[in-house]
Amino acid sequence: MIILGIETSCDETSAALLQIENSKIELLGLSTFSQIKEHTKYGGIVPEVAARLHVPKIIPIIEHVFEQAALTQKNLDYIGVTAGPGLVTSLIVGIHTARTLSYVWQKPLIAVNHMEGHVVSSLLSQDIKSFQFPALCLTISGGHTELVLIKKWGDYTIIGSTRDDAVGECFDKVAKMLDLPYPGGPQISQLAEHATQPISFTPPMLHSSNFDFSFSGLKTAVLYIVREYKKHQQLDNITKANIAAGFQNAAIKVLVHKTIQAAQKYNIETIVLGGGVAANKLLRKELQNNVTNILGASTKLYIPEMRFCTDNAAMIAVAAYFQVQKKNTISPELIKADPNWVIGTQPEK
Ligand code: KG4
Ligand code: ZN
Repeated sequence: MIILGIETSCDETSAALLQIENSKIELLGLSTFSQIKEHTKYGGIVPEVAARLHVPKIIPIIEHVFEQAALTQKNLDYIGVTAGPGLVTSLIVGIHTARTLSYVWQKPLIAVNHMEGHVVSSLLSQDIKSFQFPALCLTISGGHTELVLIKKWGDYTIIGSTRDDAVGECFDKVAKMLDLPYPGGPQISQLAEHATQPISFTPPMLHSSNFDFSFSGLKTAVLYIVREYKKHQQLDNITKANIAAGFQNAAIKVLVHKTIQAAQKYNIETIVLGGGVAANKLLRKELQNNVTNILGASTKLYIPEMRFCTDNAAMIAVAAYFQVQKKNTISPELIKADPNWVIGTQPEK
């Protein structure tokens, strides 16, 4: 089966061609245009700018993946497109393109949940057949921080989520306080490597009796420290690195701790990581160490390749494949953007 994936939910225009036979995934083509340079000027994503930039890119990017794969639309079986969550004006560009291609090429269409894409992104470099359930995904991105229980592919329940800021958003805001450019996640983690004495921040909600998160208090704690240092004009590069490392340690500690606790409570066989923040090297290392040391070798950990952590259409095509298994196609006339679509629920009709 060959699937074209299309992703435009935020600031990446991406298309991918995926072949899946006997549960074996082969990525035949992937092309992504990142708008980050444009948004860096404004210190964050400007929705109107994002939508306008998708428009001239989407068709050349789709053409590019067909060239990479040396295929034509005749070889195609399905088209999967992100229908939410995300910025509505950005989502619409991908949806209109997919709808038109589905209609003209007479190929069935699938509305894909962007967060399901992140949940399945590690399967692009792992064996689907040997995957064991129940599984638990820590999905961490610029807009979401969720612990998702996976009973089987396509069957998702959120057992914990952030009550305020997403962890990626918090990395971006802390970076801004330290005068670092957008997106802040990679900047913070690089700067943290130069820390001499990380400043200690309390990991938020570490001992709460649920699997929810909160990051706005941690963000405010960083703000107060930064203000204090700025008052005395002592915010040099080493101090910035110590703040970045302290913040990163606190955020990672609570993410890893709650993931391990949830895995114990739900007798989880496989832990999965997904989302832009999954690119964080320290988090990957800490999660691996904790899974091995606390849960033991019988619990598997699936971590996506770096290139599949941030937004890309390959993960959207994988998620589309699981929707095909559930016969979840949608007519091109009915597909709609649902900016608040929650994983595991039906999109707004
Ligand atoms: O999944 P993604 O590409 O877009 C959304 O769906 O939101 O995630 C983007 C987020 C940004 O907040 C970015 O700062 C963060 O992922 N990020 C990181 C790292 N690389 C990207 N956060 C921490 N460490 C990183 N290395
Ligand atoms: Zn994303």
